[in-house]
Amino acid sequence: MKIKDHDFKPFITAEQIRQAVQTVAGRINADYKKKEPLFIPVLNGSFIFAGDLLRQINGSCQVSFVKASSYNGMASSGQLKTLIGIEESLFNRDIIIVEDIVDTGLTLQRMLDELGSLGARSVEVATLLRKRTAREKGIQVKYVGLELEDEFVVGYGLDYEGLGRNLTDLYKAHPRA
Ligand code: IMP
Repeated sequence: MKIKDHDFKPFITAEQIRQAVQTVAGRINADYKKKEPLFIPVLNGSFIFAGDLLRQINGSCQVSFVKASSYNGMASSGQLKTLIGIEESLFNRDIIIVEDIVDTGLTLQRMLDELGSLGARSVEVATLLRKRTAREKGIQVKYVGLELEDEFVVGYGLDYEGLGRNLTDLYKAHPRA
């Protein structure tokens, strides 16, 4: 399959994703039984994961999407300017940040720094995908759906130059010849 100038091949099926989401939801359901977590999905990439995950959460919970605006709009630049969208007070709340993918972890680190000063009782992270870079750096992510190597993926909310978010399966980029 071609998106713009790049070839992608099938990688992870919708069924495999469904199972990974179910596993993450099961763990969150077990850990937050007597709590009322506030899920904070980070737009744009996490919108589909968040929608599927939230529908598998049994207990009482809230959700508030945020958008991390960057200075230059480049992916993985890590130059997060601010969080747009949180209206709920985070004071004494149990927060679960919902990410599509953790690569260098810079975006996540900036999110955690920003949330850290707002008085939350606990902050954990749920991501559908985690790349090898993040594992090697020892970035703490409690709930991980699927582990990847360094491949660039598209689909299920993730984009290549703004395209491909609507694909139900995940595709990975062919290395350029
Ligand atoms: P990090 O700050 O390097 O961890 O990158 C996080 C953000 O970069 C993600 O939320 C995605 O928006 C984007 N990103 C990183 N890797 C990929 C990928 O393989 N496909 C699509 N987007 C990606």
